[in-house]
Amino acid sequence: MKSIVIQTPEELVIEERPRAEPAAGEVRVKVKLAGICGSDSHIYRGHNPFAKYPRVIGHEFFGVIDAVGEGVDHARMGQRVSVDPVISCGHCYPCSVGKPNVCTSLVVLGVHRDGGFSEYAVVPEKNAWPIPDTISDRHAVMVEPFTIAANVTGHASPLEQDVALIYGAGPMGLVTTQALKGVYNVSQVIVVDRIDERLEMAQRSGADWVINNGNRSLQAELEAKGIKPTLIIDAACHPSILQEAVTLASPAARIVLMGFSSEPSQVVQQGITGKELSIFSSRLNANKFPVVISWLEQGLIDPDKLITNTFDYHDVKDAIERFEKDQRHCCKVLLTFS
Ligand code: NAI
Ligand code: MN
Ligand code: ZN
Repeated sequence: MKSIVIQTPEELVIEERPRAEPAAGEVRVKVKLAGICGSDSHIYRGHNPFAKYPRVIGHEFFGVIDAVGEGVDHARMGQRVSVDPVISCGHCYPCSVGKPNVCTSLVVLGVHRDGGFSEYAVVPEKNAWPIPDTISDRHAVMVEPFTIAANVTGHASPLEQDVALIYGAGPMGLVTTQALKGVYNVSQVIVVDRIDERLEMAQRSGADWVINNGNRSLQAELEAKGIKPTLIIDAACHPSILQEAVTLASPAARIVLMGFSSEPSQVVQQGITGKELSIFSSRLNANKFPVVISWLEQGLIDPDKLITNTFDYHDVKDAIERFEKDQRHCCKVLLTFS
């Protein structure tokens, strides 16, 4: 089988490898579609501190089960599945409180273990979630990015009367926008970014109001309208955003952080405690595949609004380069495998 392997940073090869065989409790997925995410590019460029090389990247993928290991029901053969990249132990403290996404021995497919940019991928059977026939392949490959939004909203419990502010109109800001509007009917969703084309995508994903803070002050814009956001989600992830969010927030607001910056954020405690703000963080997803599959079945979200490009996997280098360089026109880039 052909696999996309990052040998060492900056060295991507399409390698012929022996076809993987599923061990006990595992299934083999014949991959049909995969999505490129920022973290794939970070591993390629050597900017992911968790990555070990060589590595088959890819943690957003969809395909069909074509072999099952010992103890797995043979009825699963031929099933269309989307794969949850989060592999957890099931018994540590975070697992016991429903947070397998931060398991003390967390393994993420495509990061710590070989992932889905491959003609075939072997995964634990419980990570392979069946996709109903009513959901298309293109929607199915987008389940994982939407689970990030499901995890964020799971923490923040959005209400219809919320005034939400989302920083960043990249893939993460857009999945969150769609969840807030389509699933939670939040009355006002404001999205802020520096790139007009991305803000237009946010509008297509349901944002009520967009602000370009590259040329205007976000604070002045909100004050002019007398708006104090009650729910703020940082999907842009610069360390300076936390303090700005604390300043802009309504009393009793919730703030959700998604960033992994290793730079410190300066923040004044009084601003947090004085308004009794709740600050959450969200990483990957905790058992959110069935949640998003149900959103798709009900038509509450529309992944097509994020998909801008599709490449054959042989052209993966071009695909990643386009994804990295053309933020104005590129959002989700898919790879086709068969
Ligand atoms: P992206 O880079 O495509 O999008 C970020 C957007 O934020 C860009 O459009 C950029 O113009 C905008 N931006 C940057 N600084 C800004 C500022 N100060 N104000 C307003 N807009 C600003 O990235 P993507 O894929 O949407 O991911 C966003 C972030 O979320 C990344 O930092 C990524 O590491 C993180 N992430 C976190 C996950 C989690 O589970 N916690 C999962 C996936 C991504
Ligand atoms: Mn991703
Ligand atoms: Zn665990």
